[in-house]
Amino acid sequence: MTRYGDYQMEIYGAGLAGVTSKFPMTFAELRRRAELAMPPSVWSYVAGGAGDELTQDGNAAAFGGWGLYPRMFVGAADRDLSVDLCGMSLPSPVLMAPIGVVGLCCQDGHGDLATARAAAATGVPMIASTLSADPMEEVAAQFGGTPGLFQLYTPTDRDLAASLVKRAQAAGFRAIVVTLDTWITGWRPRDLSTGNFPQLRGHCLANYTSDPVFQDLVGPEPTTASIVSTWAQLFGNPLTWDDLPWLRSLTDLPLIVKGTCHPDDARRAADGGVDAIYCSNHGGRQANGGLPALNCLPAVAAATDLPVIFDSGVRSGADIIKAIAMGATTVAVGRPYAYGLALGGTDGIVHVLRSFLAEADLIMAVDGYPTLADLTPQSLTRIQAPAV
Ligand code: FNR
Repeated sequence: MTRYGDYQMEIYGAGLAGVTSKFPMTFAELRRRAELAMPPSVWSYVAGGAGDELTQDGNAAAFGGWGLYPRMFVGAADRDLSVDLCGMSLPSPVLMAPIGVVGLCCQDGHGDLATARAAAATGVPMIASTLSADPMEEVAAQFGGTPGLFQLYTPTDRDLAASLVKRAQAAGFRAIVVTLDTWITGWRPRDLSTGNFPQLRGHCLANYTSDPVFQDLVGPEPTTASIVSTWAQLFGNPLTWDDLPWLRSLTDLPLIVKGTCHPDDARRAADGGVDAIYCSNHGGRQANGGLPALNCLPAVAAATDLPVIFDSGVRSGADIIKAIAMGATTVAVGRPYAYGLALGGTDGIVHVLRSFLAEADLIMAVDGYPTLADLTPQSLTRIQAPAV
């Protein structure tokens, strides 16, 4: 069992030697410094969301509506944060959510590789996006002993979809995460006001340009313009339930459906043979409308016996604990690790992940929850109406 809370002793120990951390200790400071570190167009793409960002802000604010009961005389000297997800034995319930332009968040333009190295260093799996600055095979080669998951944006061309999944399996990815909520881009005023959409400028398309099926579709002597126009024509597939058997037939790997926020959809996906449910509203980037993803989690978790991955609005170790108590099997961190990447490459991500894990571990210690199974809906109480 990894003693995640010991990270604080490393930091205090360095302080005794007169060295303070070069990385921020609060999310607010992390966000502030990341904005300074990123080019404005990348910052607005990463930090922005749909509409007036009510849903995006509500995702994070919703955690403030819940509090964890402290339990005493438990003596939680050892905490076990390990978990099994679809056959993957993980040291903690934390994952890195797929972030399509993470490549651009790193100073050297290879943020996908830096993220994969952070996965190797922490044991926190990366869910690698289809939209990547480097081909998935090169990303997977950096994972070390940590399992990786591949996120599929299902193209309209079925042969291309099959090729991407086949490559992911060959590269050693351990699960396929199909994102359902982004076959079309939501209304994003920040990006619209600068007319900036990175993929239309040819960024983060390496999984396409390295794919034999895509290469055939583009034809000989590809140019940035021909690549982008081919990509734009086949990127988004408005999948229906009729497509689920085909998706399921693409792979023997665990199949996980991202963007599932209604219990009826979770049940129908389970009936269709998926292996895990991913409850997420894409961090409020896709549809504005005011429903925080956290509000969806309890019913989705109760709907089936399948494991549940949760993301959207996780900004601390305390948030991770609350999501687990509400029924999540694992919790994915999104923007915070992209901000860490912008500040310090792999080291910056490692700091963010270790900080979240340390806080989660120390909350379990202080509040008397020695294992993840001890965290249940009864461990939480509402402390205010969810602020949206
Ligand atoms: C994303 N997200 C995302 N999801 C996905 O399935 N594939 C992708 O390529 C991307 N790309 C992406 C880019 C950027 C810049 C962001 C911020 C997010 C959504 C991501 O996986 C996750 O659902 C959200 O990031 C969770 O919200 P928070 O916690 O980041 O606010």
